Amino acid sequence: MTNQPVITVDGHAIPLLGFGTWNLTPEDARRMVAEALRIGYRHLDTAWIYHNEAAVGEGIRDAVEAGHVSRDDIWLTTKIWVAHFDREGLLKQAKESAANLGFTPDLLLLHWPKAEPSFAETLGALNEAKDQGLTRAIGLSNFPSAEFRQAQALSKARLITNQVEYHPYLKLSKLKAVAKELGSSITAWSPLAQGKIADDATLIEIGKAHGKSPGQVTLRWLIQQDIIAIPRTTKVSRAEESFDIFDFQLSSEEVDRIHALARPDGRLGDWIDPAFKWDEEWA
Ligand SMILES: NC(=O)c1ccc[n+]([C@@H]2O[C@H](COP(=O)([O-])OP(=O)(O)OC[C@H]3O[C@@H](n4cnc5c(N)ncnc54)[C@H](OP(=O)(O)O)[C@@H]3O)[C@@H](O)[C@H]2O)c1
Repeated sequence: MTNQPVITVDGHAIPLLGFGTWNLTPEDARRMVAEALRIGYRHLDTAWIYHNEAAVGEGIRDAVEAGHVSRDDIWLTTKIWVAHFDREGLLKQAKESAANLGFTPDLLLLHWPKAEPSFAETLGALNEAKDQGLTRAIGLSNFPSAEFRQAQALSKARLITNQVEYHPYLKLSKLKAVAKELGSSITAWSPLAQGKIADDATLIEIGKAHGKSPGQVTLRWLIQQDIIAIPRTTKVSRAEESFDIFDFQLSSEEVDRIHALARPDGRLGDWIDPAFKWDEEWA
């Protein structure tokens, strides 16, 4: 599929570096998806709630028409919004997302855990969507450890990733261990801490030793842990920079220095249903 580093989960080879599209207008999403594929990215992340699935599909078709890539070379993820967690609503959105994209996604995630309807109903419907061929694989997003375990226990198919906030300012020790135990993976959203890494003295210093930027150091730190990273940008030069991380290696000492940046107030996006609680990721 690709000569980039991948993580193989339940037989699926997922490129460790992807391109995120949250907050991209349809115009930017189409433009940047086509550019990302030209640059060499082979993994794209969108969601129904981003209102840009159709534009992501257009960007893919633009890149295919330009001869940069074929559909089969791309790992394409989208997500079921929380308002569609009942069986009927989930299957309806799964069809709608595939129609918006113009492609069957490779991976369909539950966007955030929700107390109602029951996990049993939602996981059952997600498995049905897979069985109906509306996605190749299924997974989760923003599920703390306990709910990750509960969801997998209720799912016939392997939940091949849990997409959560992760960057140098969070530790995530417990969730990473649970993902390994369940034969799953972690995908890091906001891998660049929404740009905050750019001014970090430690990341700047480590970067200087390798001729790399703080963003490149951060993405390298993630993929060296076998974490999938999906940075987002509206700028072609930054997309190119973020892709240029396959020609250097961080030492274990450098990796540990970055782990030590984790802090109690490191979380940037806290929209979890009050019925659930995050793990103590920074501890
Ligand atoms: N599952 C979920 O609930 C969830 C939640 C949030 C995000 N996500 C996914 O994860 C993707 C990435 O997360 P994200 O978009 O929140 O954050 P991110 O990738 O950590 O950061 C993106 C922001 O940082 C800036 N930036 C990018 N590269 C930079 C660099 N090298 N130096 C300094 N600033 C830089 C970008 O600005 P410019 O555009 O100006 O470059 C943009 O504002 C999303 O697009 C989405 O696909 C999922």
